[in-house]
Amino acid sequence: VQRVRTVHLQRAKDAGEKFSMLTSYDVLTAGIFDRAGVDILLVGDSLGNTVLGHDSTLPVTLEHMTTLAAAVARGAQRAMVLVDLPFGSYEESPAQAVRSAVRIMKESGAHAVKIEARADLAQHVAAVVRAGIPVMGHVGFTPQSEHALGGFRIQGRGAAAQQLLDDARAMQDAGCFAVLLEMVSADAAAAVEDALDVPTVGIGAGDVTTGQVLVWQDMLGLRTGPMPRFVKQYAQLAELASEAVSAYVADVRSGAFPAEEHSYRG
Ligand code: KIV
Ligand code: NA
Repeated sequence: VQRVRTVHLQRAKDAGEKFSMLTSYDVLTAGIFDRAGVDILLVGDSLGNTVLGHDSTLPVTLEHMTTLAAAVARGAQRAMVLVDLPFGSYEESPAQAVRSAVRIMKESGAHAVKIEARADLAQHVAAVVRAGIPVMGHVGFTPQSEHALGGFRIQGRGAAAQQLLDDARAMQDAGCFAVLLEMVSADAAAAVEDALDVPTVGIGAGDVTTGQVLVWQDMLGLRTGPMPRFVKQYAQLAELASEAVSAYVADVRSGAFPAEEHSYRG
């Protein structure tokens, strides 16, 4: 199988086609999602929430990212493996951003990195691109800046549409191969997709972006509770797992498990 590369994503946009992206943080889901045809596996710093149980992405370290990204890279044959630079690993200087991105590439075997960066961090992004590492810029709602942004708020509405466009354009000018738009007005996102040469990828950004991304535990219903409006659930894995584990617990209590076929003799 041929690996998905940045050139294929650009071709998709130029041909008016779409591509799909889904998070993954381990070797088994990476294999399943890869064989199902997902084009980009995102080892997102959302693993702070979905794997480690924190209530934000701020505690996530480079160590976490490289360890889990390496597992995903080992499970994916076709998909591009894209890894987030975590909070605190790129803001100080372009040199720090390069150092962190290089470490991720070396230790994980991933193919590209994603950086939450508005126009004011464009020089940091450009330095990583100059190091030969493909970068996806992430603008709009950027969870690492949750406290500066005043919580989970839709970005790019009304007059803020221009700022979103400026930030996205700064990412393209810095050399990004794509720009991710999180939780923004669908109208503002459509304007960005139109204005840029490179593809945009949306999460809660309407239907005009070239790519779409979701967090897998939301999409497959492994996480329960209130979901953001932009999540479509394709399965209810939490329910399935809960029923299966309850059956196991009952079987152990009743002695129905293990049966003869699960036992060694002699
Ligand atoms: O960390 C993540 O999963 C992300 C997506 C929500 C885009 O950055
Ligand atoms: Na992220």
